[in-house]
Parts: sequence; C-alpha cells; structure tokens
Amino acid sequence: MRREVDLRLTLGAVGDPGADGLPGIGKYPWAMFSPQGPSVRELAMQALSSVEGGYDLLAPKFDHTPFRTPGGVLDATAAALRPLGPFGRGLDVCCGTGAGMRVLRSLCQGPIMGVDFSTGMLAQARSAHPDANWVRADVRALPFAGAFDLAVSFGALGHFLPAERPALFAGVYRALRPGGVFAFPVGAPQPITSGWYWALAGFDLAMRVRNAVWRPPFVMYYRTCPLHAARDDLTASGFTVTTVPLTALGRREDGSPRYRLVLARRASTP
Ligand SMILES: C[S@@+](CC[C@H](N)C(=O)[O-])C[C@H]1O[C@@H](n2cnc3c(N)ncnc32)[C@H](O)[C@@H]1O
Repeated sequence: MRREVDLRLTLGAVGDPGADGLPGIGKYPWAMFSPQGPSVRELAMQALSSVEGGYDLLAPKFDHTPFRTPGGVLDATAAALRPLGPFGRGLDVCCGTGAGMRVLRSLCQGPIMGVDFSTGMLAQARSAHPDANWVRADVRALPFAGAFDLAVSFGALGHFLPAERPALFAGVYRALRPGGVFAFPVGAPQPITSGWYWALAGFDLAMRVRNAVWRPPFVMYYRTCPLHAARDDLTASGFTVTTVPLTALGRREDGSPRYRLVLARRASTP
C-alpha cells in the first residue's frame, strides 16, 4: 500500500513522494497505469488543455489513474480527524470524482458536498455518489459562507500558484462555521539526495517551459506548496494551524512521518 500512496502523493500534487520507481508505469505502454486507464495520447491531450478542460477529458478514466486519492490516504485522514468529530456538514474542495466522500461520509452527520470546476469530473462524482450534493465552482472564489463544519481537500494544491492560495484559503475560511476545520494531507519533503527530488524538480521545470510557450496554461507544480508556505498562508487567512502525523502511511528511515495531516481551524467566535 505504501508504494500506491507514494505514487498517488507524487502524481496527485499532495506532497512529495518517498518511494523509488513508478509502479505500474511501463507495464501498459499505451494504456497508462492500467488497461482501463487513459492512453498516452489521451494524457498528452489533457496536458495540452487548461486544467478544467484537461480534467473534463480525463474524467471517465480518472478513477483508473494513480491521480485519484487511494483508500489508504483517505482512511488515514478519517482516522486522524475522528477524535475531533463528529462533524455536521462536510465539504470536499476540488472533489474530482468524489474520493473524499469516503472521509466525509464517515465523519459527518449532516449533508456532504463536493465542489470542483470540471463538469466531467462532477458528472462522474454525481453518478458514483447520488446521495451527496455537488456544486460546480472555481474554488479560488468559493460561493459559501458559514456553511460547513469540516472541509477536506485531496491532491489538488499543486493546481494553485502561490499567489492564488490566499484567495483559496480565505474562501475555505469563509465557507466554514466558527470553529470549523479544514484538513488536507501533505508529504514530507524529499532530501536533495533522492531521485524523487530531482524527478519532481524536473517535472516542474518542464511545466514551466510548457506554460511559457503554450496556451492555455496547465497549472500543476509539485514543489510550490511546502508545508511552511501552506501554514503561513492559512495563518494569514485567519486559521489556527496544527499538524498530526499520519503514521499509518509509514515513516522515513530517521523515524519522522512520511505524511502529516494539516488541521486548520477557524476561530470559534465569528
Ligand atoms: C488531481 S484531481 C483530485 C481529485 C480528488 N480530490 C481526488 O483526490 O481524487 C484535482 C481536481 O482539482 C480540480 N481543480 C483544479 N483547480 C480547480 C479550481 N480552480 N477550482 C475548482 N476545481 C479545481 C480539478 O478539476 C480536479 O478535479
């Protein structure tokens, strides 16, 4: 499970990975990741699109890629949040096809909702979870106020430039009720000596070149949201920030946790 989580956290922009190698890649040279996954050509078309258009294209096959947050990450997140609950209403920010519903459903006693700007991803989410609520919106301008007790987000922070994070976090803060919690997992940074460090730096460089020469841009960078930057931006938005180790997802050789859950709480008084 560790390798699945590492690959997911690597490709899904949650944080830096910890394993070597890309399991699955290369096994299916044309259908990437699995026989049901997107082809190389389809992934290339996605990469030449906007973020919204790219996910619209990928949506029908998204759940067969490692970009979908795996159950292990969702369950570790739910376990870390459980002592803080139960919660009332829940929101999944950048919900995609609805992976985060597994967390919200297990923790929230009220209605649960996903928000995303990809119509294609929302269509998949709606058909997988017809009992949940779905809203199409750009999360850089979230259309909610004081509505949720818990907000979560998985695998999406790499889609936001550092300059966009304050609007994102301010919108989540606004969307929460006083005392509400915003939670998302992050990976520990890779040491400069690791192959992953350089692979991700290379990916980000390639994306910067792509975005300099091609329109529309596809914003997806692995190394633009380290924990300290997320913490600073959350604090500036009014949150009180703590983290808890997700020990179920493993430890590094030095004993430190490979992943942490960021817990950002809105002040209890409005
Ligand atoms: C890697 S997917 C993650 C989906 C899901 N959270 C998961 O973990 O499986 C990233 C999602 O973020 C959404 N997204 C990216 N930028 C967005 C924005 N500005 N507003 C709303 N959704 C956005 C994409 O449409 C996509 O569904």
